Amino acid sequence: MFLKIENLECRIAATNILRSCSLEVDKREIVCLIGRNGAGKSSILKNVIGLYPSQMGKIIFDDQDITSMTSHKRVMAGIAYAPEDSRLFPELSVEENIQLGTWITSKTERSGSFDLEKAFHIFPAIRKLIKRRADTLSGGEKKMVSISRALALSPSLVLLDESFEGLSPLVVSAFSEAMVNIKKDLGAAILLAESNVHNAAQVAERSYIIERGEIIFEGQPSEILENAQLLKLVGR
Ligand SMILES: Nc1ncnc2c1ncn2[C@@H]1O[C@H](COP(=O)(O)OP(=O)(O)O)[C@@H](O)[C@H]1O
Ligand SMILES: [Mg+2]
Repeated sequence: MFLKIENLECRIAATNILRSCSLEVDKREIVCLIGRNGAGKSSILKNVIGLYPSQMGKIIFDDQDITSMTSHKRVMAGIAYAPEDSRLFPELSVEENIQLGTWITSKTERSGSFDLEKAFHIFPAIRKLIKRRADTLSGGEKKMVSISRALALSPSLVLLDESFEGLSPLVVSAFSEAMVNIKKDLGAAILLAESNVHNAAQVAERSYIIERGEIIFEGQPSEILENAQLLKLVGR
């Protein structure tokens, strides 16, 4: 397996956020982590990128144990993260925000394979926004830029946190297509945290449900859509 999380426990300030979570993502696979607000989706992604501590368990990526690696080293190993709140630099242009990714990996073995044309290929709408200041963008546009900045790191695994949140159905379709192209054309795997199972079903090849810090289901999103009990659990 490309990414393998084994029995991961995460406790912050005496709160058990993740309990014995195990999850896998294969090379070039799109996997969705589905759960209600507060279930632990973001915490899983933050553990994978190294922003949250784990007290037990293991994270293996590309045959390396990355459990206690710094975030910087994880990025260099090929993992990129687009956080839920996009976190762009407001006074910088779209172009500068995206290029930050390429600067981080320049002069390293990960440099060189990304250019803006790749971002335009994944998100055609970015081309006309490229000179705009980031703080003038809509929520959906910010998400496109945040994902493009992650792609500029030339990752082999992209962690996407609530990329569909707040998008209109038309834009959800454009983002689904973008995710398929990230896999197909850039060759990266995706682990997407998502609270809406219908959105997840548009892209995920496999899915997990997380509830109160525990993984309680693994299977196809269609299995969730056909199961009233699971649907109730994810709040739909
Ligand atoms: N830094 C933190 N300190 C304390 N509690 C946290 C922290 N981060 C997350 N939590 C708690 O852990 C649980 C899971 O949060 P989160 O992973 O953000 O859920 P989700 O992304 O599924 O909405 C929530 O109860 C949240 O309040
Ligand atoms: Mg979250």
